[in-house]
Amino acid sequence: MDIDGKVCIVTGASSGIGAATGRLLSDMGARVVLAARRTDRLQALAAELPGSLAVTTDVTIPDQLRRLVSRTLGTYGRVDVLVNNAGQGLHVPVEELVPDDLRAVFELNVVAPLVGMQAVLPVMRAQSGGGAIVNVSSATSLRVFPGLGGYSATKAALNLLSQVAALEFAASGISVSLVYPSVTATEFHQSLRAGGFVGRGRGIAPDPPELVGSAIAYAIRSGEAHVLVADPPRAIEPGDNQGWGALLARQAPGGAEGRPGSDPPAGPGETEGRR
Ligand SMILES: NC(=O)c1ccc[n+]([C@@H]2O[C@H](COP(=O)([O-])OP(=O)(O)OC[C@H]3O[C@@H](n4cnc5c(N)ncnc54)[C@H](OP(=O)(O)O)[C@@H]3O)[C@@H](O)[C@H]2O)c1
Repeated sequence: MDIDGKVCIVTGASSGIGAATGRLLSDMGARVVLAARRTDRLQALAAELPGSLAVTTDVTIPDQLRRLVSRTLGTYGRVDVLVNNAGQGLHVPVEELVPDDLRAVFELNVVAPLVGMQAVLPVMRAQSGGGAIVNVSSATSLRVFPGLGGYSATKAALNLLSQVAALEFAASGISVSLVYPSVTATEFHQSLRAGGFVGRGRGIAPDPPELVGSAIAYAIRSGEAHVLVADPPRAIEPGDNQGWGALLARQAPGGAEGRPGSDPPAGPGETEGRR
């Protein structure tokens, strides 16, 4: 999908990856709808981006998500893109994982993207040109890291939900893509629901949020199912038996057997690390 002139909702747009994505899509000619809970931040960003709209939204409240979509429709008459980016980490060992924390992060990282997809689906189906949905996952969902069980479980759930949605929505001209950031320089590790940065002291150089923004833009343009945050961004092909593709093959449709491959990426090894 060509981004110029499109109407793009970005959740979690008050900081980090969401704010960088909002800026980039606006630079590419999109009309951007910025959603998060912190109104002051959204309004400050909207003031910078011509033709944009700030809609204060708690994405864990389904009525607020539906209102976000109806405000967008009321303002622009269509919704071309939904970026489900709002999310939170939960970085504690399984032994210490508090069920209520897991429930809360599951609501934000999995249920909210589900409700978001359900809210835009009838709109995208009814309009010409279909739509593009991008769900922001995590590189941690493709490997197994001590200390990240709660968080990576929510993102792994998002992965499967998104892949099934991609198959179900394809006939309506709606793509569903997953983007897999590694450690990124945002407020994320200061805003964890519980725990701390697992890779601390291991010399991981965080990616700039703009790099993730360009991977999200690539996902919108290409409709690729799985997008690796890299410069330039690229599709991950499940089952290519090298690095990320081999890891993804464990989860992708038809890849349940999984083929770990002989050379898995150093990757999030030390949490959400290198490519
Ligand atoms: N940074 C990393 O290392 C990393 C790595 C892999 C994946 N990710 C994923 O990238 C995404 C963006 O994270 P980030 O790194 O940009 O972190 P961030 O700077 O902490 O941003 C998180 C965003 O989510 C919003 N948010 C949180 N709860 C919300 C709610 N209930 N309703 C609406 N918005 C809510 C926050 O805004 P308000 O507080 O204003 O609501 C904020 O804008 C997340 O899905 C995260 O899991 C991040």
